[in-house]
Amino acid sequence: MEVPLVLCLWILLVLGGGCLGCLKEEKTALVQIKASWNDHSYAIRSRWGGEDDCCLWTEVTCDEHTGRVIEMDLSGLLDEKAILNATLFLPFEELRSLNFGNNHFLDFQGTLKLSKLQHLVLDGNSFTRIPSLQGLSKLEELSLRDNLLTGNIPQTIGVLTPLKILNLGNNNLNGSLPPEVLCKLRNLEELDLSNNRFEGNLPPCLGNLTSLHYLDLFSNDFKGEIPASLFSNLNLLKFISLSYNYFEGSSFTPLLNNSQLVVFDLVNYNKTLKVEIENPTWFPPFHLEVFRLSNCSLSTPTKAVPSFLLNQHELQMLDLSHSGMTGKVPTWLLVNNTALEFLSIGSNILTGPLDLQSNSTNLNLVLFDISSNLIHGEVPPYIGSVLPNLHVLNMSGNALQGYIPPSVDKMEELRSLDLSFNNFSGPLPRSLFMGSSYLRVLILSNNNLHGNIPKESKLTGLGYLFLENNNLSGEISEGLLESSSLELLDISNNSFSGVIPDWIGNFSLLTSLVLSRNSLEGEIPTGFCKLNKLLFLDLSENKIGPASIPPCANLSTMKYLHLHSNELTALIPYVLSEARSLITLDLRDNKLSGTIPPWISSLSNLRVLLLKGNRFQDSIPAHLCQLKKIRIMDLSHNNLSGSIPSCFNQIITFGRKGAREDKFGNVDYVWAANLSLSTYSYEEELSRFRFLFGVGDAESDEGDVVEFISKSRSESYAGSILHFMSGMDLSDNKLTGPIPREMGYLSGIHTINLSHNHFSGPIPETFSNLKEVESLDISYNELTGQIPPQLIELNNLAVFSVAHNNLSGKTPEMKFQFMTFDQSSYEGNPLLCGLPLERSCTPTGPPPATPPTSEKEEIGLWKAIFLWSFVGSYGVAFLGIAAFLYLSSYYRELLFDFIEAHVSFLRLRTW
Ligand SMILES: *[C@@H]1O[C@H](CO)[C@@H](O)[C@H](O)[C@H]1NC(C)=O
Ligand SMILES: *[C@@H]1O[C@H](CO)[C@@H](O)[C@H](O)[C@H]1NC(C)=O
Ligand SMILES: *[C@@H]1O[C@H](CO)[C@@H](O)[C@H](O)[C@H]1NC(C)=O
Ligand SMILES: *[C@@H]1O[C@H](CO)[C@@H](O)[C@H](O)[C@H]1NC(C)=O
Ligand SMILES: *[C@@H]1O[C@H](CO)[C@@H](O)[C@H](O)[C@H]1NC(C)=O
Ligand SMILES: *[C@@H]1O[C@H](CO)[C@@H](O)[C@H](O)[C@H]1NC(C)=O
Ligand SMILES: *[C@@H]1O[C@H](CO)[C@@H](O)[C@H](O)[C@H]1NC(C)=O
Ligand SMILES: *[C@@H]1O[C@H](CO)[C@@H](O)[C@H](O)[C@H]1NC(C)=O
Repeated sequence: MEVPLVLCLWILLVLGGGCLGCLKEEKTALVQIKASWNDHSYAIRSRWGGEDDCCLWTEVTCDEHTGRVIEMDLSGLLDEKAILNATLFLPFEELRSLNFGNNHFLDFQGTLKLSKLQHLVLDGNSFTRIPSLQGLSKLEELSLRDNLLTGNIPQTIGVLTPLKILNLGNNNLNGSLPPEVLCKLRNLEELDLSNNRFEGNLPPCLGNLTSLHYLDLFSNDFKGEIPASLFSNLNLLKFISLSYNYFEGSSFTPLLNNSQLVVFDLVNYNKTLKVEIENPTWFPPFHLEVFRLSNCSLSTPTKAVPSFLLNQHELQMLDLSHSGMTGKVPTWLLVNNTALEFLSIGSNILTGPLDLQSNSTNLNLVLFDISSNLIHGEVPPYIGSVLPNLHVLNMSGNALQGYIPPSVDKMEELRSLDLSFNNFSGPLPRSLFMGSSYLRVLILSNNNLHGNIPKESKLTGLGYLFLENNNLSGEISEGLLESSSLELLDISNNSFSGVIPDWIGNFSLLTSLVLSRNSLEGEIPTGFCKLNKLLFLDLSENKIGPASIPPCANLSTMKYLHLHSNELTALIPYVLSEARSLITLDLRDNKLSGTIPPWISSLSNLRVLLLKGNRFQDSIPAHLCQLKKIRIMDLSHNNLSGSIPSCFNQIITFGRKGAREDKFGNVDYVWAANLSLSTYSYEEELSRFRFLFGVGDAESDEGDVVEFISKSRSESYAGSILHFMSGMDLSDNKLTGPIPREMGYLSGIHTINLSHNHFSGPIPETFSNLKEVESLDISYNELTGQIPPQLIELNNLAVFSVAHNNLSGKTPEMKFQFMTFDQSSYEGNPLLCGLPLERSCTPTGPPPATPPTSEKEEIGLWKAIFLWSFVGSYGVAFLGIAAFLYLSSYYRELLFDFIEAHVSFLRLRTW
């Protein structure tokens, strides 16, 4: 330490004492502190107690003159999980700074009566409340970042008027901000309340904290207007982050007269916030480095990109995404703001071509995002030369056309390239595959690209490759082999042919493999058995067969398995019984035969089981009842016989009302339900319902009908369909016997289809308990007896058919939902009478039967189709979102790193 020898000698001579540095009491206290720790690991490793002079201990700083301990840095020493005894610190009367961060302490006991203490840092512990701060009358810095604080900011904070820095970021604090506490802290220079759950409006008196340099309210639940006083009064602000809150309402001209401002960050969660700038024309005094104003409605006189930015030459990061801006792509930003590193103007209404100047190279730009606009035309061929240092280039969701510019290989730092959802044509450029070995994410899906993947490639770092929905063809190219760290490969909906190559097994990190909707044939190669991280496999709509999964496969991690519409034969492979994590199993439309194996009950996580359209025979095994989590079960179009096991009512999720326990956060579940539903093809359902309703071609006026129905349906479905969808389809089999009464107890089920079987006996009156059911089809059976009149209580019913049975008696009253069902729901039951059938129940004799009007039939048909198509499109949209979240993580990391870097940079610079 810096106790110079001279000083030591001086103390020795003048004071006649020993040159022992720190005071005896303080040393004793330090030793006691050490002794009080349960975790001795550090004390043992360190020299604590070893040296005579405690001022020489690295954790301690003493005053040069008095030898008293003035600073203590005890951060990151311990994994203590205990309560800190404040009394132990009382001997350190001269202590100015105490850092106890990152030690996992739970709380303080007693009060820290240290009248000289100015800095108290307790970051990274496990405090659940703000400790007593009585007696800290000189405290200037209090930092409790990264703890587990709950509740609101205590009144006692308001007493600490000398406070300059208050950092309570990354906790679970809630409630609204107490103005009577915060607004008393007139000396506050830095206030960090980020990443908590504070709510309510921001108190306008925050504008009275005129010393504030740094205000961070990032990610809370604040709402209401942003007080104008923040902008008019806080003239010293350098950093303000209001992002990820729910501000709304008024327009304002932000930070008009503030010459200090460097970082302005407002990504709002409520698009209704209107931010007006440049009215009148604005020449702000500040020199911004970060300007993020995203997801609000930005209003400039022309709705264009704000022109004041022309003169912000220090700008490094600009994010104006999701702001309703119109006009041309502001490529002038790249000419004049040469310091720009991040430029995100995605999700606006920008039009025109991308006019990059060929002679103006921007060496700093790292991220360029113009996605989801209306940009058209060709990408300038020299883009790679003028933006050579890009890490992330996102031009997806525009109307760009022509070839993918080969100059992308000049971007030697490129990590992520997204050109999806455009009209790019031509082949995959060879140069791209010979380009940046850093490239991790490559998304070229939804274009008109043709040809094959180049045979040669240097993309050794590639982790995610999306080529789906193009016209690519040929055998899956060995060019991929260089990319041995692939985690996700999606080449679905192209024209790839040949067999799945055995070398696919080299991708040992692969978690998702999507090869669906191609013309691949043959069997899954044994190389597949080397893939032991696979979570998601979709090979559907190919010609895979006759065997499917090789017996050596390791399916322990597999969650989603889609093999529908292939040429699989024989039994369900036994190796699937090891797939204990499986959530979705989709084997529809193959030629599988034999019985549904009893081992299916070992797939205890299964939520979606789709075996439709195979040749399964014998009875439905009661083992299926052990699949307690199943939500969608489709066994239709097989040769199943026997009766329905009466234990079906034990399936919890079918019985659970609305199954609301499935929290939104359960992404797996949502994912599963969606994937399986999204694969329900419109055409397939169309032909099915055509058959069912005996309708030929339904092309007339379909738009109107669909739109009409979609309006009413989407309202009742909005948001909930993903979570609550559940159903059972046993149609088109040879099932016999009565419908078990117990099925009426599946109160959580939404769809039941038992049509086209040989069920006999009555419709169980317990069906009136199926309160959630939206579609109930028991047509084409041999049911007898009356339709239970209680069925009219089924308020969610949208599709209902008992047609073509031997039912008798009166139809249910034309009330509630039953008002919407027409004759087609009842036809083919000669003994049935009452509306909407023509046959009256009174003995006066029925009027002659007239054929049903085709118009009404169509409505029924479209209603049914809509049910499925809606589900389908929802599913597709969801996949897109999931992929986006997945992929944008790199992007987001970059952004957060950047902001983070700025924060620490600013802190260093300012304090
Ligand atoms: C805290 O430390 C003081 C002083 O060493 C001691 O008297 C007291 O018993 C301690 N309290 C607890 C709960 O350990
Ligand atoms: C704050 O959170 C606690 C639990 O963490 C809860 O009991 C309390 O009601 C919340 N307060 C407010 C105002 O939301
Ligand atoms: C700011 O402080 C002044 C007095 O210092 C007071 O009159 C005013 O009400 C305060 N403003 C707010 C919004 O609290
Ligand atoms: C900004 O400052 C200038 C000069 O100090 C002043 O004339 C002007 O009125 C101020 N504008 C606002 C909106 O406060
Ligand atoms: C956004 O603001 C509107 C209008 O003030 C309000 O109705 C809506 O609830 C807000 N949305 C959220 C998510 O806070
Ligand atoms: C934008 O705001 C809407 C609500 O208006 C919200 O749902 C959405 O998540 C926000 N988007 C982003 C990117 O923050
Ligand atoms: C760039 O900034 C300079 C200096 O402020 C300005 O004179 C010039 O007009 C700007 N360039 C463009 C292309 O607007
Ligand atoms: C680039 O070319 C344009 C037009 O050809 C010209 O106006 C501009 O000055 C040039 N810029 C540079 C930096 O040479």
